[in-house]
Amino acid sequence: MSFEESFISKKNFKKKSAVLRVDYNVPIENGVLLDDQKLLRSIPTIELILSQTDNLKILTHLGRPSENDPLTNEFSLAPVAKRLSELLRKEVKLVKSLDELKASKSLTMLENIRSFEGEKNSDEDFSKKLGQLGEIFVMDAFGTAHRKQASTYGIVNFINEACFGLLIEEEMDALEKIVLNPTKPLLGIIGGSKISTKINVIESLTNHCDWLIVGGALANTCYAAQGKNIGKSLFEPSYLDVAKKIIENPKIVIPTFVVVSNGSSIVEKSVNELSDEDIIFDVGQQSIEAFSQYIEEANTIVWNGPLGKFEEDEFSKGTEGIAEKIAESNAMTIIGGGETLAAFAKIEMMKSVDYASTGGGAFLEYIELGSLPCLELINQKNLGG
Ligand code: 3PG
Repeated sequence: MSFEESFISKKNFKKKSAVLRVDYNVPIENGVLLDDQKLLRSIPTIELILSQTDNLKILTHLGRPSENDPLTNEFSLAPVAKRLSELLRKEVKLVKSLDELKASKSLTMLENIRSFEGEKNSDEDFSKKLGQLGEIFVMDAFGTAHRKQASTYGIVNFINEACFGLLIEEEMDALEKIVLNPTKPLLGIIGGSKISTKINVIESLTNHCDWLIVGGALANTCYAAQGKNIGKSLFEPSYLDVAKKIIENPKIVIPTFVVVSNGSSIVEKSVNELSDEDIIFDVGQQSIEAFSQYIEEANTIVWNGPLGKFEEDEFSKGTEGIAEKIAESNAMTIIGGGETLAAFAKIEMMKSVDYASTGGGAFLEYIELGSLPCLELINQKNLGG
């Protein structure tokens, strides 16, 4: 998509006030931002708006604070506003109330929108107040676009104009080309811990993909459904029937070798030979070798969720091994989700990826549904619906 074709290029911000929703839900430790990718990816949209108007109000959430408790440092956007100021070389004022935000005529960020009552349930009155903050709403929070909340969804009904930002359009373009209309064969890789949160996307990915590798603790529930002894490994007992169905699909591939810890040693074992004390933490080397054939044959690879407990070095080898095989292949690779991006960054494999989506849940829902509620609503509004 060229700039001229973008939605936002058709909007005129001159002499207007703009409200921009971004997703700055980023990891922060002791007041320091550990990863500013989401900020960097939002800069083109911010600079575009600022080239036409100074009156820009930024909304974002950070984590999941309670609406009723006072905002603590853990959930404050102060480190985010500071980093954004550095990146833009421009002051980003941080304010605590809607009144202060409304009164401001220069670049201003509101404290964590999720600490305001009415945000999470997209309350009509609160959405209306947000709509009164400006004249044009720009939605660029792809990572939060699957949430029907006041600042992502409700506001659209109460503001004069609405459009997508450049990041959202880039994300939609990439996902459409690579995931919804891929050059086949398409290999999906899905990891993470809970089948319950990924079941719909597993089903949808099996429709799109030629093969789907299911790893991480998701696979544990599949082993348990096969009647295997998984020792003390994490699994979801109430999803055994669902897992049974998943593994019946011939497109599904699950590791047969895993790395386990029994408290005193870490070894690779066949999933048929686990003891009562074993806990599965990673995919085994022999399975990585077995997966090479799919990676070599694939023309497109889409990956969400690490295959092991990658935060600990001894259990990051599975994710790392697969990432290395992908780096050697010619397949177009797209990854999505905070943990997946963090895993690739940790093992310094980001450069082998063709597209990294800023969305985790949104990335999966977009693949599953082909759109997201707030994107539909903005489209409708512009069609006069
Ligand atoms: C994310 O980091 O995935 C998004 O910001 C969404 O966060 P949420 O799951 O708390 O809505």
